Amino acid sequence: MTTAPAAALGTRELALRERARRVIPGGMYGHMRVEAFSRAHPQFMVSGNGCRVTDADGREYIDLMCGWGPIVLGHRHPAVTAAILDQFERGDCLDGTSPVAVDYAELLVDTVPSADWAMFCKNGTDATTMCVTTARAATGRRKVLVATGAYHGAVPWCALRGKGVTAEDQAHLIHFEYNDLASAEAAAAEAGDDLAAILVCPMRHDIRRDQELADPAFARGLRALADRTGAVLILDDVRCGLRLDLRGSWEPLGVRPDLTAWSKALANGQPLGAVTGTEALRDAARSIYVTGSFWYAAVPLAAGLATLRELRKGQALPAMARTGSRLRDGLAAQAAAHGFEIRQTGPVQMPVLYFAEDSDISLGTAWAEAAVTRGVYLHPWHNWFLSAAHTDADIDDILDRTDDAFAAVRRLPH
Ligand SMILES: Cc1ncc(COP(=O)(O)O)c(C=O)c1O
Repeated sequence: MTTAPAAALGTRELALRERARRVIPGGMYGHMRVEAFSRAHPQFMVSGNGCRVTDADGREYIDLMCGWGPIVLGHRHPAVTAAILDQFERGDCLDGTSPVAVDYAELLVDTVPSADWAMFCKNGTDATTMCVTTARAATGRRKVLVATGAYHGAVPWCALRGKGVTAEDQAHLIHFEYNDLASAEAAAAEAGDDLAAILVCPMRHDIRRDQELADPAFARGLRALADRTGAVLILDDVRCGLRLDLRGSWEPLGVRPDLTAWSKALANGQPLGAVTGTEALRDAARSIYVTGSFWYAAVPLAAGLATLRELRKGQALPAMARTGSRLRDGLAAQAAAHGFEIRQTGPVQMPVLYFAEDSDISLGTAWAEAAVTRGVYLHPWHNWFLSAAHTDADIDDILDRTDDAFAAVRRLPH
C-alpha cells in the first residue's frame, strides 16, 4: 500500500513547527505530537466552536477528536463558558478551596451511585494514581492487577512505553488479558495476600487495535474476585466517563467499583480530574497525601459543575448515541460502496475504524490523511470522540467529506 502524497500543510503551520523544534523537544511530545501519526494533520490549533476547530492557517475542521476526549458538550459551550467567566472574574487560584468544590462534589455523589465522596485533581493520571495509592493505604498491600496494553497514565508506575522507566517502577503490577477472567484469577493468585487492587477500564480501548466492550461476566467476575480477595476494584473511567453513562460506565452492567478515576470530559475541556469512592474507603482516601499547586483552582471546578448540570438535563448522551450511529452507518455504507472491508468497533460515541488486511495501518493512515485534508479531523489508530455539539447535519457534512476520502484512497496504487 502506498500512502497518499503528503498534503500541503499551511505556511503558518510549517513556520510554527520550525520554531517549536528549537524550543520544544521533538517539536511537540506526548499523544498530541501529530507527526507521530500523520503527514497531513495540523499540529497547531487556534480556536474551536461547537464541533469545529480551526488551525493556525485558518482552516476549519469538523472535530472528531474533541480535544482527545474532554470536549463532551462542544467547544465553548455557552453554559460552561458563562460559568468559567463568572468564576474567573471572582478569582481562580485562591488561598482556600472555592465553595464550588462542595457544590460539585455533592452533585457528583448524587449522580454516581458508587460514590459516597469525591476528591479533585487535574488529570486522569492524578486520578488513577490516587486510586492506587488509596487502595494500598486501605489494604496495606502492594500488588495491582492491570490489563495488558491498557493505558492508565503517563507516569513511571503505569507508563506503557518510553525511556526513563525502570523495572522497579512497575514491580508491583501484574498483568491479565482484558475480558479473560481466568487470566485475572491467575494474576490474583500470583499476587497472593499482597493484592491491593484490580485496575480496569470500562472497555478495552488500547490504541492500534479494535475496541472491545467488557463482557458482563468478566466485569462481574472482577467484582467477585475483588470481594473474595479483599482487593479494591478500581474503574478507570477517565476516557469513557460521562460519555457512555453519567452514573459510571459499568453501571449498566450492574457492576459498581470501589473507586473510580475520572477526568477528560468532566469539565468540558478545563483541567480537572476526580476520584469517587465508597464509604468503606473514605478513611483511606483521607489518609493519603495528595495535592498540587493548581488542584484547587476554582474555574475548572465551576466548569465541572456547569458541565455536569448540563449533562444531567438528559439530552447530550442520547444525542451522541444517535449521531454516533448515523456516522457508523454512513461510514459502513461508504466503505462498502467503495469496495473496502472495514471494522468499526467500540461504542458509537467513541468509535474507531480500521481497514481489513491493513496490519501496519498504512491504508487507515492514508484515509485519515485524506479525511483531514477534506476538513474532518480524525485519527487512524486512536478512538475518536463524539460530542453533544455534533448534529445530524454535521454528521452528513462529515460523510460528504469521508466519501471523497474513500474515493481518494481507492485511487491510490496498492
Ligand atoms: C483510560 C485512561 N486512563 C488514564 C489516562 C490519563 O489521563 P491524563 O492524560 O488526563 O493524565 C487516560 C488518558 O488518555 C486514559 O485514556
